[in-house]
Amino acid sequence: MKFQQALSILMALSTINAAPLAHQHHMHKREADVVTLTEIHTVIVDASNPTGVVADEVSVVETSTSSSTTSTPTTTADATTETTAAAATTTAVADKAAAVENSSSGSSSSSSFEDGTIPCSEFPSVAGIVSVDWIGLGGWASVMALDGSTSESCTDGFYCSYACEAGMSKTQWPSNQPSDGRSVGGLYCDNGYLYKSNSNYDDLCVSDESTGYVVSELSDTVALCRTDYPGSENMVVPTELKGGETQPLSVVDEDTYFTWEGKKTSAQYYVNNAGVSVEDGCIWGTSAAEVGNYAPIVIGAGSTGGLTYLSLIPNPNNGNGANYNIKIVATEGSTINGDCYYENGSFSSSDGCTVTVTSGSANIVFY
Ligand SMILES: *[C@@H]1O[C@H](CO)[C@@H](O)[C@H](O)[C@H]1NC(C)=O
Ligand SMILES: *[C@@H]1O[C@H](CO)[C@@H](O)[C@H](O)[C@H]1NC(C)=O
Repeated sequence: MKFQQALSILMALSTINAAPLAHQHHMHKREADVVTLTEIHTVIVDASNPTGVVADEVSVVETSTSSSTTSTPTTTADATTETTAAAATTTAVADKAAAVENSSSGSSSSSSFEDGTIPCSEFPSVAGIVSVDWIGLGGWASVMALDGSTSESCTDGFYCSYACEAGMSKTQWPSNQPSDGRSVGGLYCDNGYLYKSNSNYDDLCVSDESTGYVVSELSDTVALCRTDYPGSENMVVPTELKGGETQPLSVVDEDTYFTWEGKKTSAQYYVNNAGVSVEDGCIWGTSAAEVGNYAPIVIGAGSTGGLTYLSLIPNPNNGNGANYNIKIVATEGSTINGDCYYENGSFSSSDGCTVTVTSGSANIVFY
């Protein structure tokens, strides 16, 4: 029936991607979010006149979530992958550390992070990391413990997750992840001070692949909101694309980054309508405002086996579409496979689309 159709469409999209993209992280949603999604589903059906597919896709998300809670916890094989990942990125990390600006602003400003020197009550001023003050967690993107509890502030026993600059990804997560379908990431707070939870990286943020960019031909700002993963998966990690600007996308190197139950990580962005600020848009939103998890478009980005996959995906939580058009184009001298755009309210393929960057890089252009 419709449910089955939506499922097979998503599976087909996943096959096309080769790299798992947007729906992947939803499978790890914690239980509290599943309840919220159920409420969203009802509101959409009542409020407007959506197609059946909208509701069905929400159902797929819920189903995936509940099935993930019965799957096996992180395996030894995953730990091996992480170790290999660390080895592969060592050179890049060292290069980046050398290039890091020696900032002298701020009371505790430092180009590198040292265990046990920064109080948990203080958001670190360290190269690459970005405070997200507007969500009310003292700058942290999420504060979670392995047992599933959360906190409004970074305190003992919690992992304090953080945003990185556009084009960079967080390097901190514990190797022991919860076995119930959630993920946890960030610095660990112990005895009032912050510690790394993953010593495989020198810095708190690592540069992603330089194969995908967002480019604005609009006058208004577009807030792209990446999910905090591993972590709460809330879409609070901002990329602010001002009118006329270009910003890097986080094209995650899926072969070396965090894996969870054997699944690789891609970056996912909930993309708000133009004119919505990062403070208003990069939040766990409400249907009335159509921001955050209700934003019209989802962008997926990842790289595996030397190929970059960039996707445009309709957000089933949003029934009204975006106030701009989007196209994915090769940069000069680069090669992409696939035709992928969102124009006049429709995607080039109704369920979303993916391009493969086979050499060079691609721009996702807002116009
Ligand atoms: C960074 O700045 C501090 C303070 O000025 C200085 O002592 C230190 O040597 C600098 N480090 C580098 C790597 O330039
Ligand atoms: C979108 O609308 C414009 C203006 O009407 C038209 O030129 C263009 O062909 C439309 N695009 C698609 C994909 O239908």
